[in-house]
Amino acid sequence: MQIAMIGTGYVGLVSGACFSEFGTTVVCADKDASKIERLQAGEVPIYEPGLEDLVTKNAAAGRLRFTTDVASAVAEADVVFISVGTPSRRGDGHADLSFVFAAAREVAAAMQGFTVVVTKSTVPVGTGRELEAVLRESAPQADFAVVSNPEFLREGSAINDFMRPDRVVIGTSDPRAQDIMRRLYRPLYLIEKPILFTTRETAELTKYAANAFLAMKISFINEMADLCEQVGANVQDVAQGIGLDGRIGRKFLHAGPGYGGSCFPKDTIALVKTAQDAGSPLRLIETVVAVNDDRKKGLSGRIVGHCGGSVEGKTIAVLGLTFKPNTDDMREAPSLNIISDLTAAGATVRAYDPEGMPEARKLLPQAVFCNDAYDAVTGCDAVVIVTEWNEFRNLDLKRLKSRMASAIMIDFRNIYDGVTASAAGFTYSSIGRPRP
Ligand code: UDX
Repeated sequence: MQIAMIGTGYVGLVSGACFSEFGTTVVCADKDASKIERLQAGEVPIYEPGLEDLVTKNAAAGRLRFTTDVASAVAEADVVFISVGTPSRRGDGHADLSFVFAAAREVAAAMQGFTVVVTKSTVPVGTGRELEAVLRESAPQADFAVVSNPEFLREGSAINDFMRPDRVVIGTSDPRAQDIMRRLYRPLYLIEKPILFTTRETAELTKYAANAFLAMKISFINEMADLCEQVGANVQDVAQGIGLDGRIGRKFLHAGPGYGGSCFPKDTIALVKTAQDAGSPLRLIETVVAVNDDRKKGLSGRIVGHCGGSVEGKTIAVLGLTFKPNTDDMREAPSLNIISDLTAAGATVRAYDPEGMPEARKLLPQAVFCNDAYDAVTGCDAVVIVTEWNEFRNLDLKRLKSRMASAIMIDFRNIYDGVTASAAGFTYSSIGRPRP
């Protein structure tokens, strides 16, 4: 069995490397020649723990190859995964499928023998059907089946999520395609992971429903945190108190600065559009989107409030820039709102992130980038923790304070507690917890 993985972005690269680790031969194809050259040299262009080792190991074993020649990768393949980008379309928020259909036309021109064409990218309901029509039109004689197999990978733990998923969802009614997909995921049957076979539309919608539900949990607990602040309750205890109820579950109930990243913001908006177009609006998810947008826009206001009503002429340290730890991804990160709004309000921002700074330098030229947390707080009036990287969890708070002009700590991830921060001399505020 051989796989062609079209698109070596985050999803394609992780999935390709993991399938090759399962023992299948994988050829990853991408139009971006410089990216392919780097990958051929064993250099992984994204930061994802464990990925570089996996790529190097399987490339050396001959199971994982990289090419710009999409046609020959497809011609040799039994299964073609389409894992190109599906960004938000400018103007209307729908997923932009132009890359998916461009890839489909190339696949149509090159596929030989029975070929399973799988959408791995997150695509709106009905895309599989459209894809099938495009392939049929371009290659009327070809023997193929179109399958939806959405990914549920989290950045930062993508390899583990692929190797030990909660479930795999496969949408197809074609028995030959079902058989091939079953063989592809055989290693997961061996460790008794559920593989759900369903229709294509159901698989496509399941992916959006999962992301929308998780985003809803986050917006729920974020609003609850705001209420906790007003009534003197503790959101972490509320989250635990409800999360221990197995029907609710403890995960994704961490209050914070609002969700970001490449999936939740884009997919919730795309699902809202799909539902509106289908005449069956999802009012809950529309509100989730609005709650999250407002939250991110309000972050700088919270900081200004904690700094006595104005940040003009003040210097603020921002620790953590990526949308979450263990990634270099800055997409939709709350730090983007915070830093642009604070600098617009007349503050100087000194920023540090363990992996996100190359990208952040391009997006936030107005910030001063520093070497570590202690360097970032030097001379600052306040320090704001925006991303919960492990290296921020155990800072020497006394040393931190000694470098600052005044000791205000705003902890948007609740990684410290009021007692510890106050003992080090900080005026401390966090999310949804009573002030010390
Ligand atoms: C998400 C989904 O988890 C994954 O299944 C899907 O395939 C892609 O989208 P990812 O975007 O990598 O993965 O990150 P995730 O860990 O889910 O976090 C998303 C955002 O939610 C981050 O900004 C994170 O900080 C925030 N979050 C998450 C919270 O604010 N609170 C939580 O309790 C959990």
